Order: sequence, then C-alpha cells, then structure tokens
Amino acid sequence: MKNKTTVKDDSGSSKAPAKEILLTGDRPTGQLHLGHYAGTLKKRVELQDDVRYKQFVFISDIQALTDNARDPDKIRQNLIEVALDYLSVGLDPKKTVLFVQSQIPELAELTMYYMNLVTLGRLQRNPTVKSEMKDKGFGSNVPAGFLSYPVSQAADITAFKAKYVPGGEDQEPIIEQTREIVRAFNAIYGDILVEPYLILPGNDVCNRLPGTDGKGKMSKSLGNAIYLADPANVVKEKIMNMYTDPNHLKVGDPGAVEGNIPFIYLRAFAKPEHLNKYLPEYKSLDEIEAHYRRGGLGDMKVKRLLNEIIQEELAPIRERRKYYENNIGLVLQILQDGCKEARAIASDTLQQVRQAIGIEYFQDETLKKMYIEKYK
Ligand code: TRP
Repeated sequence: MKNKTTVKDDSGSSKAPAKEILLTGDRPTGQLHLGHYAGTLKKRVELQDDVRYKQFVFISDIQALTDNARDPDKIRQNLIEVALDYLSVGLDPKKTVLFVQSQIPELAELTMYYMNLVTLGRLQRNPTVKSEMKDKGFGSNVPAGFLSYPVSQAADITAFKAKYVPGGEDQEPIIEQTREIVRAFNAIYGDILVEPYLILPGNDVCNRLPGTDGKGKMSKSLGNAIYLADPANVVKEKIMNMYTDPNHLKVGDPGAVEGNIPFIYLRAFAKPEHLNKYLPEYKSLDEIEAHYRRGGLGDMKVKRLLNEIIQEELAPIRERRKYYENNIGLVLQILQDGCKEARAIASDTLQQVRQAIGIEYFQDETLKKMYIEKYK
C-alpha cells in the first residue's frame, strides 16, 4: 500500500502548498526565563505569523518525568507555569497548537517502535544527554527512561511530521539522533517519516544567554535566572546585581565589555529605538561600548539602560500573564483543545507507522488471504 503511485507533479495545481510543520516543547521543571525567551520563545512568536508554517508547541511532561519520577508534584505545579509563560509571551492558541505530551499516548507507542532502531551505545554517546547525566549526578543510576529520552523526543517530532524544530544549540544532537531514526525507519519500512532540522535563534548571544552571575548559561539550577514571571522590582534588583568587569572600579577606569553581563544582554535585547529613547547621547551600542572601554562610563548607567529595556520587553508579557492568571479555566481549556487537535494528527501518523511495519493484522486483507493460502 505504501508503494501506491502518487501524482508526481503538482505545479500548476490550484491548491495552496501544504504548510511545513514546526514543533517544539519545554520540560515543565520550572518557570521559563529570559534565556528561553531570547533563545526560542521570541522566535516562536514570530514564526506563528509566518504563513508558510503551522506551529505546534507542547509541554513535555513525559520527558520531565524521566528524571523526576519521584517528584510528580513538581511537574504538576510547573505545567501551569509553563502554560502561562507560553500564553504571556504571546503564543496565540488560534495560531499555535498548544498541548501536553502525556495526553497523546500515541507518542509512547511510537517510542516503542523507534527504540528498536537505536543502540544502547548510540544513546550513551549523545553529547547533550551525556552532559545532563553528569550535571544531574546520576552516577551509575541513570534511569533508562532518561537515557532514552531522545527516542521519545524523536516520537514527539515525527508524530507531527515536523520539518523544523526551533530550539537552542543543545537540541542539535537530539535532532540529529531523530534524523537517524527517521532514516532507519524509512529505509526498513517505507517512506513515512520526515527528517527534522533545528532552527536556531538568529543571534549568537540569544543562543546561549549567560546567567546574571556570569558563571554560565542562564539556568534555574544555577540560580542565575531572570524569570518572565518575576515582578518589576525583582528584575531590577537582579539587573543591578549583575556581574560586570571586576577591575572596573571607578567610573573613570577603562573597562572590559567581554564577559560583562549587562553588555551581553544589551547585545541580545537592545534595539535602536531603545537607545533613542533612553540614552539619546549615544548613536549605537558600539559607541556605548567604546565609551566603557576607554573609561568614563559607570556600570550603574549601563545597568539602568538595560533595566529600562528589559522592563519594556517584559511589560506586555506581565500584562498578558495577569489576564491568564485570572482565567485559569481558559488556560486549561486551551491546552485541552490543543491536545485534541494534536492527538488526531499523532494518531494518523501512528496508524501509518503500524501499517508500514505490518502489524495492522486485522485490517489487512492481503495478510488474511496469505494465511488462508498457507494452510490450504
Ligand atoms: N528537550 C526539550 C527540553 O529540554 C524538550 C522537548 C521534548 C522537545 N520533546 C521535544 C523540544 C521535541 C523540541 C522537540 O526542554
């Protein structure tokens, strides 16, 4: 059935070309922060308005359970946080399908079939998983589910035939592993699945936004994050305490902008309109940096500028969050509707997969005839 002839040329057909599928998700292990925002959330909000794509964004609670099996309450608490973060950054349920991974049992079944196409050695070599295992300090007690979460992620992506996955660079090894699974599957069972590609944020700084302490990437576990849900005074305090150049003691001293967190954030968030509005005496970020380098520009002035910009960016996000916090029933309804839409698609793919593998025994007339023939 999979070899049925298809129409090869659809140029000149009056139908609009099918939209390409974008899909991405986040583990509900904490609130989302500015690193998520710069790295992927902002991009998703842009992409949902691009008519070439249809976007799916989901809360990957099954993946979160792979290292939190003993603390399901953490996942339950953060489900609503991530949902509120999504809606407050401007993901619009009319444009983006928002759903929850665990409500799509088809994903688990797909995972089982893909599991056979991946070796243990290959799982152990995935650099993202390797470094996470180290950070989490599993030692020799790695949950099997954790080691194999890239297989489950391959199910998430392929169930929707997603071609693009917006995410940070840490997702690349997982997407690569997904492509390998897709190639193996298609080679063995027929061309059913689509190979996905990662879409990185356009800007390198956004790709790896450092934490406020300058010690590493922004993350909940390092305690160096600015959360989208932080109130204005908390954000301001975090900005005012940011790590700068420790040798820039007096305003008049020359300073370094490399590794200087407020400058890195300005590169990620400042637009020309911001400078016009808040520091019109400078024509560009380059000029501000040059002034800091030669001395005469104080950290406080830079931090105040950054604070204005970040508060301006967060203001509409806070306002939408307030609205949805006051309408939790609506938030849950949005997720539930999204799950219904997502499930129909995943179920369709699963059906194709089962058929391709040849395990749809009771719908297969050819198989029935063959069995009968065999014992004639
Ligand atoms: N791995 C992602 C994270 O660490 C979450 C995730 C699960 C995901 N499934 C996905 C991302 C599919 C993109 C596509 O947050």
